[in-house]
Amino acid sequence: MFSTQAKCYIPLSSLHLYFLISGSMTPNSGKTTSDSLAKCVQTLGLPSIQRHVFICADQTIPKCCDKALGLESWNYLKQRLTDLKLDLPVSNRLTSVFRTKANCLRVCQKGPIMVVYPDGVWYHSATPEAIEQIIQAHFINNQIVEAYAFWVHPLACSSGLDDRVISNTAT
Ligand code: FES
Repeated sequence: MFSTQAKCYIPLSSLHLYFLISGSMTPNSGKTTSDSLAKCVQTLGLPSIQRHVFICADQTIPKCCDKALGLESWNYLKQRLTDLKLDLPVSNRLTSVFRTKANCLRVCQKGPIMVVYPDGVWYHSATPEAIEQIIQAHFINNQIVEAYAFWVHPLACSSGLDDRVISNTAT
C-alpha cells in the first residue's frame, strides 16, 4: 500500500455565495431555489465531503459484472459508510465520504468498477470484500489498496474555478 491524502479542497464560502446570488423564485413556495438548495447542501452534508466515490452498479447494460453483483456492492458500500458513520461528519471527524451509483464508468471489464475522487484512484473487482478493504485502508487510513487499484490519477486543484464563478455572477 502507498499513502494518499486528499489535497484539493474548494473554498466553501465561495460556493455558498454563488448559491445565494443565483437563486430564483420557485412558482408556488415563495422560497428561492437557493433556499432549497442551501437546505439540501446541509442535509446531504456537502460542505463536509472529503472524498466522493462512484461505483458502477445497476447498469442499463451490465458489461463489467453481473447486475446483481453490482447492486450487492452498491448496497454494501452504502450500508458500511452508514455503519461506520463515514457518510456524514461527526464530532471528532468533520469530513465525510459521499457516494454515487453510476450506471457505467466506461471501463466495462473486471467490475464492479469504482473510482474515488479527488484521489483519482480507480479500483476493479469492487466486490463487498474488496470494498471493505478499501473503506478500511483508503477511506480511514489514507492507503491505496494496491490489490484492486489499476489506475491512479489525482484531480488537479481547481482554485481558478472559484474566481470564475464569482466574476460571472457579478456581471
Ligand atoms: S458496465 Fe461497469 S464500467 Fe461499464
